[in-house]
Amino acid sequence: MHIRVENLTHVYAPGTPAARTALRGVNLEFGPGERVGIVGPTGSGKSTLVQHIAGLLVPTAGRVLLDGVLAHARTPEARARRHQVGLAFQFPEDQMFELTVFREVAFGPRHLGLDESEIAARVRWALETVGLDPEVFGGRVPLALSGGEMRRVALAGILALRPRVLILDEPTAGLDPRGREDILERLRAWQEETGATLILVSHHLDEIARVVGRVIMMAGGEVVNDGPVRQVLCDPEGLCRANLSPPPGVVLLEALGAAQWPVRMDGWGAEEVAAEIARTWERIRKPDAEPSGS
Ligand SMILES: Nc1ncnc2c1ncn2[C@@H]1O[C@H](COP(=O)(O)OP(=O)(O)O)[C@@H](O)[C@H]1O
Ligand SMILES: [Mg+2]
Repeated sequence: MHIRVENLTHVYAPGTPAARTALRGVNLEFGPGERVGIVGPTGSGKSTLVQHIAGLLVPTAGRVLLDGVLAHARTPEARARRHQVGLAFQFPEDQMFELTVFREVAFGPRHLGLDESEIAARVRWALETVGLDPEVFGGRVPLALSGGEMRRVALAGILALRPRVLILDEPTAGLDPRGREDILERLRAWQEETGATLILVSHHLDEIARVVGRVIMMAGGEVVNDGPVRQVLCDPEGLCRANLSPPPGVVLLEALGAAQWPVRMDGWGAEEVAAEIARTWERIRKPDAEPSGS
């Protein structure tokens, strides 16, 4: 699906003393099959933006188009597009209301009017995709699960709808670091298999950087940076503007650069940074030698 955000402005409680501008003239495009991260400090407008993309809010000004159709319109066409956008909210427990995990995940597919065997197949597939054994978890009570398991169930419920666009708002909140890596790896595998668009909202820059190809950085309701992961992560000034800390590797390279080491600032992963330091060390030691990059 092609998503177009045009001059999007959103004011909460307009015309009241509590009025709050959450988005100011945002312009963005998302192509089919992209994996994108949206980062920025709390209150920067990330959640408001993704709710607009899911057609859940009406813009104060501007518009959001899903394959050319107004996202929030009350037409059958718009409704059909919205059904193809899956949004997982920040607090999964707010979305749980069935008595078993199976029924919880089956809820959406049932509303699509699928027959029971297709529903059961989708529920199993979705639970397996998020790393929960259907035999073990299918009969459990959703609200008695751990935070991390609940999050996986909520995600399975959305995957079972086979969305063409999947948006996750803080997908790893409540998960330990191993659980985080596991779920992000599963989401990446799912995206590669389906070719859907994956949008991850997070303030864990390091963590989503491994999954997405592009990062949009928000601050104060505006887009302050948008580009390939490398470019955004290796721009310490831009990160500062968004009140985010650069990955440790970038900090290290920057410190070496400040100490007159001729390092290049285009890597952020531990291995890339180590390789760049080794290359630079070689250059310093033997300035006339050919660089031995490999
Ligand atoms: N339902 C709401 N009513 C009033 N103000 C809101 C509401 N939701 C968010 N806001 C305000 O809008 C701004 C952007 O919030 P939000 O989109 O939730 O940002 P983020 O997800 O980046 O933390 C914040 O100032 C927030 O306080
Ligand atoms: Mg938010």
